[in-house]
Amino acid sequence: MDDSTAREQHDVIDLELDRPHSARMYDYFLGGVTNFPADREAAARAIAAFPSTLIAARSNRAFMRRSTRCLAQLGIEQFLDIGTGIPTSPNLHEVAQSVVPRARVVYTDNDPIVLTHARALLRSRPEGATAYMHADVTDPAGLLAHHVLRGTLDFHRPIALSLNALLHFVTDEHHDAHGIVESLKAALPSGSALVVSHATPDFDPEAIARVTAIYRAAGTPVQARTREEIARFFTGWELLDPGLRPILRWRPDPEEAHLTFTDAEAACYAGVARKP
Ligand SMILES: C[S@@+](CC[C@H](N)C(=O)[O-])C[C@H]1O[C@@H](n2cnc3c(N)ncnc32)[C@H](O)[C@@H]1O
Repeated sequence: MDDSTAREQHDVIDLELDRPHSARMYDYFLGGVTNFPADREAAARAIAAFPSTLIAARSNRAFMRRSTRCLAQLGIEQFLDIGTGIPTSPNLHEVAQSVVPRARVVYTDNDPIVLTHARALLRSRPEGATAYMHADVTDPAGLLAHHVLRGTLDFHRPIALSLNALLHFVTDEHHDAHGIVESLKAALPSGSALVVSHATPDFDPEAIARVTAIYRAAGTPVQARTREEIARFFTGWELLDPGLRPILRWRPDPEEAHLTFTDAEAACYAGVARKP
């Protein structure tokens, strides 16, 4: 979808302000202003159950920056970011284009509130390109066939697929998360990359059970996965060093303050792999 299409859809979008949305709760955790009372109430309950929710959200953003920079430095110039979230500077294209100005980025999310902020994601450097499309990862065929994606990225050249803090919203109860990821991986050419960060119960199972219950009660099923379950998303691809790690330990940047946090507080694993 181009900018004008985003505006057209904006006119008819139901933002469902009376119920919490995961993107707006996440925005609240990150200190953003694109959230409403229902989101803030659910977010406050999540923070009460798991006070380090804010640390987890910020650690996740920091991983996005480190992994994007790493892949751009390895020469990847195309990025597909699914489950983008409400724009938070720096967005992925700003990080990628700071290394490779001609980087091309397609953002996608299924939350209508993100669509209304798509304009902020479209401020590309002139040498590169960014685009936004409203799509659902649980329909990988539809997502992959989308004209915005096909018109922006070249599927004959490597693409970095970012699934950051997304897959725990794709529960086994309702969908085949691993099958979905395999469909996306199969569409990408050799040399492409898969970037995943994912909530885990491995470090503090009781706290994660509490916060998961709060999301479910708010109408958003969540499934934290074990390291082994998350590792399966990378099947057949080659993990970059240091492998699938607690998110704070994936190529930590000594200048980032979050290094003082614990793995239990960040509560996520993260990894990056390349397609052989
Ligand atoms: C926790 S936010 C993560 C945002 C960003 N990727 C990051 O790591 O900072 C999760 C995002 O995934 C989106 N999302 C959840 N389920 C989705 C689905 N089935 N298809 C596409 N996006 C989805 C939500 O709307 C939300 O914006």
